[in-house]
Amino acid sequence: MDNKDKIAAIRSYVFSIFKDDSTGHDYFHMKRVAESAGTIAEAENADVFICEVTAWIHDIGDEKLFDNRGEAVNNLTAFLRSIGVSVIETKKILHAAEDVSFRKGNVPETLEGKIVQDADRLDAIGAIGIARTFSYGGTTGQLIWDGDNKDNTSIQHFYDKLLKLKDLMHTKSAIQIAEERHNFMNMYLKQFFKEWGR
Ligand code: NI
Repeated sequence: MDNKDKIAAIRSYVFSIFKDDSTGHDYFHMKRVAESAGTIAEAENADVFICEVTAWIHDIGDEKLFDNRGEAVNNLTAFLRSIGVSVIETKKILHAAEDVSFRKGNVPETLEGKIVQDADRLDAIGAIGIARTFSYGGTTGQLIWDGDNKDNTSIQHFYDKLLKLKDLMHTKSAIQIAEERHNFMNMYLKQFFKEWGR
C-alpha cells in the first residue's frame, strides 16, 4: 500500500467510528482537520503524511467521546500496523495525537503535534466553529445564551475559549487563516447581540 492508499483506508476506519457523532466531532470534522493539517504541513515543510494521519485520528480515544481510551488506542494501533504504517511512523502519529488531545492548554512537543493542534483549533473558529459550538451545546443541554446566567451557555464559550484561539496558533500559516475566522466570529457576535435585544 502506498501512502495514498493508507490514507484512504484510514479515512474509512475513521468514518466507521465517527459517522453518527452529533457533538461536532463527526467524520467531517476529521476530514477538515486532515485537509488543513496537510496544507499547513506543506507550507511549514513538515512531514505531510504524519500530519494528515495524525489529524484523521486525533480524536480517537478522547475521553469526552470514548468510554475506554485504552481500548480505542489499542485498536487504532493494531489497525495502523495492519495497513502497513511502520512502527516508527505509528509511534510518531500516536505521540503527536496524544500531544494534541492531552495538552489542550499546553504546547505540543513535536512540529507535527503543533500543526495538528493548529488545524484542530482552526476548525473550532469561524463559521464552522460557530456551527460546532451550538451543535455541541445542544447535545450537552446548554442554553444558547442567558445574560443573567452566562456560565455554560454557548455564547459564553466564545469568550471563554474561541476568541482566544487566534493568539494560540503555533504556525505562520495557521495564524493567517485564523485572522479571517476570528474577525468573522466578532461580526457574528455583534449581530447576535443586536438581534437579541436587551
Ligand atoms: Ni478535534
